[in-house]
Amino acid sequence: MDASVPNPTAFSITTPIYYVNDIPHIGSAYTTIAADVVARFQRLQGHSVRLVTGTDEHGQKIERTAAAMERLPQEHCDLIAKEFVALWKLLNIQVDSFIRTTDPRHEAIVKQFFQRVWEQGDIYQGQQQGWYCVSCEEFKEERDLLADRHCPLHPNKQVEWRDEQNYFFRLSAYQSRLEQLYASQPDFIQPESRRNEVLSFVGQGLQDFSISRVNVAWGIPLPVDPSQTIYVWFDALLAYITALLEPGQAPTLENATATWYPFNIHLIGKDILRFHAVYWPAMLMSAGLPLPERVYGHGFLTKDGQKISKTLGNVIDPVDLVNRYGADAVRYYFLKEIEFGRDGDFSEERFVNTLNADLANDLGNLLNRTLRLAHKYCDQKVPSVPLEAMPLAEPLRAKAQGLGEAAALAYSRLAFSQVCELALALARVGNKYVDEQAPWALAKQGKQAELEQVLYAVLESVRLAAYLLSPMLPTLSNAIYQQLGFEVDFNQPDIGRTLPYSQQTSWGALPPGQALGQPEPVFQRLELVS
Ligand code: MSP
Repeated sequence: MDASVPNPTAFSITTPIYYVNDIPHIGSAYTTIAADVVARFQRLQGHSVRLVTGTDEHGQKIERTAAAMERLPQEHCDLIAKEFVALWKLLNIQVDSFIRTTDPRHEAIVKQFFQRVWEQGDIYQGQQQGWYCVSCEEFKEERDLLADRHCPLHPNKQVEWRDEQNYFFRLSAYQSRLEQLYASQPDFIQPESRRNEVLSFVGQGLQDFSISRVNVAWGIPLPVDPSQTIYVWFDALLAYITALLEPGQAPTLENATATWYPFNIHLIGKDILRFHAVYWPAMLMSAGLPLPERVYGHGFLTKDGQKISKTLGNVIDPVDLVNRYGADAVRYYFLKEIEFGRDGDFSEERFVNTLNADLANDLGNLLNRTLRLAHKYCDQKVPSVPLEAMPLAEPLRAKAQGLGEAAALAYSRLAFSQVCELALALARVGNKYVDEQAPWALAKQGKQAELEQVLYAVLESVRLAAYLLSPMLPTLSNAIYQQLGFEVDFNQPDIGRTLPYSQQTSWGALPPGQALGQPEPVFQRLELVS
């Protein structure tokens, strides 16, 4: 397949390749949850999906961490990489490729890529002088530093002076091609605020950057000068490509880019925007490879206003959070309560309140009370209301109209909290509707047809809300669908074929007469555990 023509049914998305300086924290979980939700939404749409994640294991930061723990670097990486794999399983993330930068196939890919850029004449030797933040693995401009030369992203770390002979990548040569890219593809960098940041950075004039290190042994040797190793960022970005190799496939750029390449989205945090939106496309241009469709830089999770970070030591342990509240709860909270793209503070009290209000009350309770009524008055079956009998103006049907399209648009913009609002609004109208229509009173008055219409409309609304939320809440949506009498599993990769998006978002997908399951709370109320 020609790598420059994207495969229309294939969708590929990446999370950052995480440093293994410590076990994963909630910041790393945040990006990965969001990527999984996008991937699951694409599967619902019937696409084949490749979700790529992995661990970034080379460089000085990891070398030093391992040394401080008195471990060999590889031994340290092996231990921490396992923790990432385990967390993604715990959070119900459907990872298609997990790449470690110490994988020997990756070294082969990096060397081939380097060769292409070398042959292009984009690598030369020069003197690198500047202030280096080992935690960012990045040179910093003196004007950007805090007092006493501390890094703004790691205020407890001082930058270090470097003055060494390195090999440089000719980034400056790509200035105008990058500017053309941003102008011709306004959606390349999202959200808008991040795009503006990049435009202003590039507008100041791009400088070449060094892609090798002299005193870092823990890295891939530079093909043209083995006394140096490849800069960890040049190495790590290429892991996206290595990850696309099929098991057992020869590690060539041709193989890796044959099916899933170019990527549809690189999902990242705002701190690593320059690498993805400036350096990476220039590197790809130099190597003659197609560019990703978009780079989305989300905001930071903060605690008491400060970025949650391993280096700062104010971490929230995602394993602990999942063990106490469940994977769905954790997935939902961060996507619902923080507008994706902006920063957001974590509060456990808000966490518990949000989940109880949205999932236990608005959605879960609505299903439970309606199912009980259907058990009592409709012979434990979905009321037999044919589609034609349900007026278009019926309040819930009217509210559900166009919801599938609106949610799809929100998902495609990564506006997850908007999807939650759309689904929850339907559930809230449903609760009000049950109160107003009082099906128990209709039963007393012998108005069976009206009663059935009300119950059908409510059950159908809960189904639709669960379907729309399923990328965020796969376990809860499974439980709701099962109580509605379906035998489905939202974790199936071919879910878009079993439950196609357009069919499931049309009113009436709940089959009249379908036997219902036992009414049981689908989401247990949470208690604040201190
Ligand atoms: N190894 C590089 C990425 C290389 S990609 C080719 C790296 N790793 S990291 O582990 O430090 O960070 C990975 C991601 O986690 C970044 O996108 C970063 O923004 C994100 N987060 C780290 N702390 C975060 C928060 N407190 N909140 C949200 N995301 C945060 O950078």
